[in-house]
Amino acid sequence: MSASTLTVTDNRTGSTYEMPIEDGTVRAMDFRKIKTGADDFGLMLYDPAFMNTASCRSSITYIDGDRGILEYRGYPIEQLAESCSFLEVAYLILFGELPTADQLDRWVYEITHHTMLHETTKKFMEGFRHDAHPMTMLISSVTALSTVYPEATEVHDPTSRFLQIKRLIAKMPSIAAMSYRHSLGFPYVYPDNDLSYTENFMNMLWKMVEPKYAANPVLARALEVLFILHADHEQNCSTSTMRAVGSALANPYLCISSAASALSGPLHGGANEEVIKMLDEIDTAANIPAYIASVKGGKRKLMGFGHRVYKNFDPRATLIKKIAEQVFEVTGRNPKLDIALELERIALQDEYFISRKLYPNVDFYSGLIYQAIGFKPEMFTVLFAIPRTVGWLSQWQEMIVDPAQKIARPRQVYTGARNRRFIPMAERKPVEVKA
Ligand code: ACO
Repeated sequence: MSASTLTVTDNRTGSTYEMPIEDGTVRAMDFRKIKTGADDFGLMLYDPAFMNTASCRSSITYIDGDRGILEYRGYPIEQLAESCSFLEVAYLILFGELPTADQLDRWVYEITHHTMLHETTKKFMEGFRHDAHPMTMLISSVTALSTVYPEATEVHDPTSRFLQIKRLIAKMPSIAAMSYRHSLGFPYVYPDNDLSYTENFMNMLWKMVEPKYAANPVLARALEVLFILHADHEQNCSTSTMRAVGSALANPYLCISSAASALSGPLHGGANEEVIKMLDEIDTAANIPAYIASVKGGKRKLMGFGHRVYKNFDPRATLIKKIAEQVFEVTGRNPKLDIALELERIALQDEYFISRKLYPNVDFYSGLIYQAIGFKPEMFTVLFAIPRTVGWLSQWQEMIVDPAQKIARPRQVYTGARNRRFIPMAERKPVEVKA
């Protein structure tokens, strides 16, 4: 018997099965051989919310949740945040290697020259109500973009794939800025090819009548680092959505809008907006103990706390705290910071949070920085979606070329009724039903 195997005894039959262990996993399909008889379907694994199921092999992002380690393609996030531009990290995530100076120049040129949107997208955007949520406008507009690029359905053609990847990375900030300007009733601003990725985004957001927009370098760098920190995070809810929709060979624009829809939820990327609402509600430090008590009483969650993978600390939250200091030197201190710091201090000493390993996640401080830079809370998740587009597309590309992947299709444990006799309308009795 090999040492790298798992032996399972089925006590229903007494049969013993040996399964190979590879990379710390056993194959779920090996359990299907475990049957009580010829008519038995075989054992399945029940794993709601995929708490312990690896759905793919990936070489993009490594996370060690217990040690608080995050690496893109093997490079620690701290070093990338310190030394790289966002597009340099995007290149690394997509292609697996850091670019040379020439490769980076070409890559930046290509992304920069895809930032323009088709005029029909502008018209489409004009149709939204003035108070439409920017994230919903972004999601709808990315879906609409697929009508402009019908060749995007050629997902098995590497040339077409690469073109759509460049377009999506380039156009997300343009759509995001348009949705922001739309909500303010301001005219849209066209991209400026002289500016960096984040500076151009700031230009499209905030340029008014000045001939050339000049971004504050500290704020532009802070945004760049925030983009780097949000670029990928392996198989989270939105990335798994990207892979699941992509596995049906839907075009990448539709995959991205599906992934962004998942991101918009308050338990995922929408959490940073919820953190600001929570800090507003708490209002003063004196109200923190009562708020914590209501969290412990199960009435609400402490938004920006807790993570499925990080059970010690979120390395992104540590880096974000440093960026906050740099930003507040320029913008002045966000008054909510003191409440956030006090909330964190009290929570980290409380048995409820300690025993459940609940620490501040990336969203706890990012909203405070975004607000200080000048973003409305409704824009926060949009700011998450722009850099995460790089991660989504890299994971999609990896999935498409992986011969082990097929259309995503989980199984279920059926708990409903069987073989009921159909009841004609005249014989039916009212039964109370719940939604
Ligand atoms: N506040 C209070 N209690 C919490 C919190 C929280 N933020 N997070 C988890 N818990 C509690 C749960 O109620 C549960 O308690 P119990 O054992 O008494 O039932 C325990 O901690 C374990 O939590 P789970 O829900 O099992 O953890 P899970 O891994 O499923 O959830 C999640 C992770 C969704 C992030 C959760 O911590 C949460 O809802 N946090 C608040 C929302 C948030 O900040 N989301 C952003 C995540 S980062 C990102 O997506 C970019």
